[in-house]
Amino acid sequence: MSPLVWLITGSTSGLGAALTNYIASRGDKVIATGRKVEERLGHLKAANVALLELDITAEATTIATQARKAWDIFGRIDVLINNAGVSSMRSAEEADDDYTKNMFEANLFGHMRVTRAFLPLLRSQGEGCIAFTSSSTAWAGLPFMSQYAASKAALSMYAECLHKEIAPLGLSLVSHYMANPMSHMPGDLAKAAAFMVDVVTRNVKDTEVSTQEPTSRKWAVRVALGSDGAGFVRQKCTEMLRLLDDWQEASTGTDRDGEASDAVREMLEFTTII
Ligand SMILES: NC(=O)c1ccc[n+]([C@@H]2O[C@H](COP(=O)([O-])OP(=O)(O)OC[C@H]3O[C@@H](n4cnc5c(N)ncnc54)[C@H](OP(=O)(O)O)[C@@H]3O)[C@@H](O)[C@H]2O)c1
Repeated sequence: MSPLVWLITGSTSGLGAALTNYIASRGDKVIATGRKVEERLGHLKAANVALLELDITAEATTIATQARKAWDIFGRIDVLINNAGVSSMRSAEEADDDYTKNMFEANLFGHMRVTRAFLPLLRSQGEGCIAFTSSSTAWAGLPFMSQYAASKAALSMYAECLHKEIAPLGLSLVSHYMANPMSHMPGDLAKAAAFMVDVVTRNVKDTEVSTQEPTSRKWAVRVALGSDGAGFVRQKCTEMLRLLDDWQEASTGTDRDGEASDAVREMLEFTTII
């Protein structure tokens, strides 16, 4: 099995740093990217660890140049992890345009730009995986987190639509739902990083899946991390099903009279993520 080549955005701290360390320790190759990487991550440089300056809010042309440079480092990239992100709390009333724009630049538009820069390269390679670090706040409404949650919810749907586009090209995608919005929640970064790597590697060609999870588990486009992350998602889905049941008659009552439902069935079949 040849080592995989990973590129991680936002490697300079937190989960990105944990991913970089874990991937390097398993013998794969990793391109750790971020802002001021030479200064902050210089100590990590090794035969299988390269650094690349990448501010995901830079202009598209700058990001495309950095993507090309990244590709040339090891001659390919198997996994792109769009992990960088910012979060902060502010009331919806106080969140002005600048605050909102900055949040969406780092949590949504930047990831779109980075993804667009790597897509032609991955497409020509004919295989590879794009992963995103989303947030369980996309599933759970928290006060004073509306801009952050909205940016992550948008990112999650962007990822899901992208999955539909790139699957026919031989590319896979996964969106991870991190929780742990407060320090008292149970998330463990090192375990989360190892789990994310395990999830991704099960769908990258010619690799063996590590033993952390049963290999029979199917590929998933959406994966929750932590009992808090899984809890948020489960609560939302359970409650949403109950709301749908309560409102079923009223909701379907807006259909045109006498319309056949074939189109709905076909659309549901097309949009399934399972
Ligand atoms: N920890 C949590 O509780 C939690 C919960 C849910 C989701 N998440 C998500 O998990 C991901 C990682 O977060 P974390 O917990 O590891 O937080 P973190 O320690 O603050 O790390 C965020 C990383 O993103 C980088 N970053 C921010 N803006 C960037 C930009 N414009 N260009 C390049 N890099 C940029 C940061 O670099 P700088 O140091 O240069 O700013 C940092 O390396 C984020 O997407 C976050 O939203 C985290």
